[in-house]
Amino acid sequence: MTGSPPKWDSFFFVALLLLMPGCQWFSNPPMHKPDPHSYSNPHETRVDSLHLSLKVDFDAQTLSGSADWFLVAGHASVLILDTYGLDIHSVEGDGQALPFSLGTHDALLGQALEVSLHQPTERVRIHYSTRKGARALQWLPASQTEGGQHPYLFTQSQSILARTWIPCMDSPGQRFRYTAELDVPPGLLALMSAENPTETRADGRYSFRMNEPVPAYLMALAVGKLEFRSLGERTGVYAEPAMLERAVHEFADMEQMLSTTESLYGPYVWGRYDVLVLPPSFPFGGMENPRLTFATPTIITGDRSLVSLIAHELAHSWSGNLVTNATWDDFWLNEGFTVYVEMRIMEALYGSEYAAMLSAIAHADVLEEVKSLTLGGQEQKTRLAAHMRGEDPDDGVGPIAYDKGYHFLLLIEQTIGRARWDAFLKTYFHENAFKSMHTEAFLSRLDSLLSTEDERIIGVQEWVYGTGLPVNCPPPLSTRFAAVDSSLDLWRNGDPLALPSEIDAWSTHEWVYFIRQLDERDSLAAAELDRRFRFTGTPNAEIGCVWYQWVIRFAPSYGNQRLCSEAMAAYMTRIGRRKFIMPLYKALKETGQIDRARELYKQARPNYHSVASHSVDALLGWKEE
Ligand code: BES
Ligand code: ZN
Repeated sequence: MTGSPPKWDSFFFVALLLLMPGCQWFSNPPMHKPDPHSYSNPHETRVDSLHLSLKVDFDAQTLSGSADWFLVAGHASVLILDTYGLDIHSVEGDGQALPFSLGTHDALLGQALEVSLHQPTERVRIHYSTRKGARALQWLPASQTEGGQHPYLFTQSQSILARTWIPCMDSPGQRFRYTAELDVPPGLLALMSAENPTETRADGRYSFRMNEPVPAYLMALAVGKLEFRSLGERTGVYAEPAMLERAVHEFADMEQMLSTTESLYGPYVWGRYDVLVLPPSFPFGGMENPRLTFATPTIITGDRSLVSLIAHELAHSWSGNLVTNATWDDFWLNEGFTVYVEMRIMEALYGSEYAAMLSAIAHADVLEEVKSLTLGGQEQKTRLAAHMRGEDPDDGVGPIAYDKGYHFLLLIEQTIGRARWDAFLKTYFHENAFKSMHTEAFLSRLDSLLSTEDERIIGVQEWVYGTGLPVNCPPPLSTRFAAVDSSLDLWRNGDPLALPSEIDAWSTHEWVYFIRQLDERDSLAAAELDRRFRFTGTPNAEIGCVWYQWVIRFAPSYGNQRLCSEAMAAYMTRIGRRKFIMPLYKALKETGQIDRARELYKQARPNYHSVASHSVDALLGWKEE
């Protein structure tokens, strides 16, 4: 070969690479940057993989068995794991009993489990069980399921609840592969964020494997009377039998979403992408558990108008599950990117007008949040780069990380052009696959993409470290919402029956946008509105959420009528999705109806997952009885 450089030259080249700010070796987060939400010691002892062996006991509402941690060879003398409310029965290292201790309990972080390692140890086995009330787990009696015949269990580990059912390094910066063996009551199907069965086994024994390394917050488990239906080559849906048909219809575009995202951002590396439809008490809209998104049934409306949630959870297969926020302070890297990718998927599948409508919702949400945080003296919470030490990371979930994050990335796209931005993102996901990312590391990569002029135009530092919404935030531009505005005008100013016929084709988003604009001016027309559109008792939970809020705030006398108040109570008892129930309790509290809120909550609370009841407890000053 000719022209090979002399040795000193390549040495110089490597040294130069190491010094470059955008260099991959540097921008990967240093392992020792501590996670304020974990006791674990990955800088001393590294875990490679996990094997779980658990019995699922519905009567006792416990999981019990063992967790085997396989360690990366080293000579550390201690392994520290996160636990929360676990009963640790004993610990073995390569078959020999090991001394261990549990630290003092912290209400937010739980207890550190310290295992002494006298000699190099390959496998640490922890015999343990969860207790009743373990926060990640929701045990539903048969009566709370669609079928009403069998109990149901599901987990929600994000943000720091994996430690409530698995002793683990519960930090998003620590990844491991896992296998599991579960023993569940016969007749029920068990699923995890792993390779999953499609058939129920008569003996109730299931094995799982997740071959790709994942952080603890993506550990997930569900057990119930479930069935599977394929939607395409790599996609499918699991649901209770009574729900399955509707889910299959709603999610018909999933396979196409998957291939579209691949064509934008590179291969899907997780094998299959399936969705599990949960009971309505699931506290979130969706949770991106790898290979198996968990989703609320409230997105199944019959008209496919809420499938952007599936696009969102699918997008996490790149942003979040592949390139993962290193700590919860970097949460906007997970969610801001994911909203951006979600919008791109929606645009590719349903056109730019549809995507512009979703984008306008994100814009309205972030404006409202910035306004309310600023008014409430919490302006520092409007920064993308968060400071969650000492706080529950779940409290950082909201329009700042999601929608301010999204608009920042959208502005970059608009400044440098789609072609360059897309190429950057594709490389970013590829080069950082299975790694974690700090805000600073991302910024240094961005620095290598942007010219000084670009950076000045965008105002990168202000977007990431500043408060509020920068003035150069891309403005919303939705023709479909503009049409809703004129319909509302028409309705308010003229013959109500003269509404344009287009409303028959309105999607959930248009209805929500319409109702959100109603105020006290419209309160006299409440009954008429309701008669015309049948909002009270609507099967569409998005519409129900904004309708009942309006009724509570602006049409209280209507809201106190039997039909409406019963429908609202039924809604708040059946649905446990935090995003829907919190605004209703808030509206009641803010309109001097805290007693009514507490009365409703007393009924509803047993149906909620701990993530939801925690939030409502705090809002209503609820003490467990
Ligand atoms: N990963 C989140 C849910 C989450 C975040 C759970 C933080 C616990 C802590 C999920 O991807 C998500 O963002 N879900 C949204 C839906 C989405 C379309 C905005 C939700 O549940 O509302
Ligand atoms: Zn998300």
